[in-house]
Amino acid sequence: MCGIVGAVAQRDVAEILVEGLKRLEYRGYDSAGVAIVDSASNLTRIRRLGKVQELADTVDSAHVVGGTGIAHTRWATHGEPSEINAHPHVSGDISVVHNGIIENHEQLRDTLTERGYQFVSQTDTEVIAHLVEWELRSAPSLLVAVQSAVKQLEGAYGTVVMDRNDPSRLVVARSGSPIVIGFGVGENFLASDQLALLNVTRRFMYLEEGDVAEVTRRDVTVFNSLGEHVERKITESKLEHDAADKGNYRHYMQKEVFEQPTALINTMEGRITADSVITDAIGVKAAYILAKTEHIQIVACGTSYNAGMIARYWFEAIAGISCDVEIASEFRYRKFVTRPNSLLITLSQSGETADTLAALRLAKEKGYMAAMTICNVAGSSLVRESDFAFMTRAGVEVGVASTKAFTTQLISLLMLVTALGKERGTIDKVREQEIVSAMHALPNQIEQALSFEKEIEALAEDFADKHHTLFLGRGEFYPVAMEASLKLKEISYIHAEAYAAGELKHGPLALIDADMPVVVVAPSNDLLEKLKSNIEEVRARGGLLYVFADEEAGFEADDTMKIITMPHVSDITAPIYYTVPMQLLSYYVALIKGTDVDQPRNLAKSVTVE
Ligand code: M6R
Repeated sequence: MCGIVGAVAQRDVAEILVEGLKRLEYRGYDSAGVAIVDSASNLTRIRRLGKVQELADTVDSAHVVGGTGIAHTRWATHGEPSEINAHPHVSGDISVVHNGIIENHEQLRDTLTERGYQFVSQTDTEVIAHLVEWELRSAPSLLVAVQSAVKQLEGAYGTVVMDRNDPSRLVVARSGSPIVIGFGVGENFLASDQLALLNVTRRFMYLEEGDVAEVTRRDVTVFNSLGEHVERKITESKLEHDAADKGNYRHYMQKEVFEQPTALINTMEGRITADSVITDAIGVKAAYILAKTEHIQIVACGTSYNAGMIARYWFEAIAGISCDVEIASEFRYRKFVTRPNSLLITLSQSGETADTLAALRLAKEKGYMAAMTICNVAGSSLVRESDFAFMTRAGVEVGVASTKAFTTQLISLLMLVTALGKERGTIDKVREQEIVSAMHALPNQIEQALSFEKEIEALAEDFADKHHTLFLGRGEFYPVAMEASLKLKEISYIHAEAYAAGELKHGPLALIDADMPVVVVAPSNDLLEKLKSNIEEVRARGGLLYVFADEEAGFEADDTMKIITMPHVSDITAPIYYTVPMQLLSYYVALIKGTDVDQPRNLAKSVTVE
């Protein structure tokens, strides 16, 4: 989704701003722009449709000078992707970049038009520029003008405002879209994501909801929504400077798939012993809250939702506790009943997904006992606003298609399930040892699964010219199939559906013909015989079967059925293990199709608008 970078420095900041935008490219965007003021109040604004590199080339050849600037990558919400709609937007001396959506932009547009402002873009953002320009006519400072302007905005914003007449400062406001301030020596920066600034600083301060801050070279002054001067914590980032590098891999997604064994080890480190899960590692308040928990409500979007769907099987079957899972965009608008002693768990890679965040805020009002988040980004909104957070340690995930975030969410959920089962007395010592030993074995098993890369690459040829694919599974492998279908459709643009295999005969069987590949996740477990009957239903109708199974499942390949036989792993961790070949399959199909694997069309990494 959109990205923001800003800087107030003594040196020229064009390169820093453009580098920051490049570091945010993974979030998805359609256009990019920059506005820079020099000490003599000359403003240069450059905007380009398409890749940041085009903007970079133009900025470079224009030799843009100036120590104060703002930059933006836009992902269109209001108005088509075009240069005219790209940020920064300008009104008189005011330049503005903005993430989020201004919901009352139409009313504001009417009011501002009556005041004589002419709108040149179709964006909601342009109202902010005119509104600040209007307020500054009577306000004593840019800060006060922005404070007055944001009071009139409804919706979500992370916005930065620059006045060409005063290049010594930027004013930034946050409500619903994250803003982080980066501290340099004699220079300060800001961005929508700290990743943008890791080449210039490691010291960061996150603004809170409703904050407005004035950033100069030497000072950062923060005011809360009541206009009171407040202090916000400054933290040192632990992210690696080169966390966003691709290394020798062709795509970030490929790199991130192969990072999974390490990401799993990191996520488990210090949280499990040789034979037990350390409950305290779940969170300081965890033991107390888990002991009182009678119901789990998981809320998430996309891949994170699929992780929740797998965990539901674990919560009920392993810990013996009821669990519901809901898509955040549905949950937040549904009149739901809060069950007694219900623990809300949000799952999110980014911690900034607008619908998930809104669901968390709603749940707090609706009497949930406590809110926990399982999240990959420290300092993100979900982490800050939840009662306690359990961090996945996947490292930075750049590819839009979530991979290592998903498997680390799953291992985190499994640790939580085990801790909860121990608290409730549904997991005894022997069972705990069995679960923990499966967890310890998993990273090596994932390495083995990755070694099927060549076989899966060859298989991908069969899919690349198809228009549809079905994924089937039963039990916890049904959501594994859901995740596999999401991966395939988002990066290869092949229409894919997942079904619980037992549901086939209730409709989808009608789709089966020789042009319909059907991928089945079929490890040997207590549902295998049922699944085999479903496979026969497909085979009898001439479907093309691709079965991912283990040696013990006893499948034999023939003209209609290709088998990928993988080593057998524990039933407990098998959903995580079988996810890996599915990720590789979608990756190689996309590679053959030549799509933009890391930044699929129309998609954004972090969905900060609803
Ligand atoms: O950051 P989150 O986990 O909250 O994001 C939720 C979804 O937008 C995300 O999982 C999305 O579905 C992925 N791109 C899928 O690969």
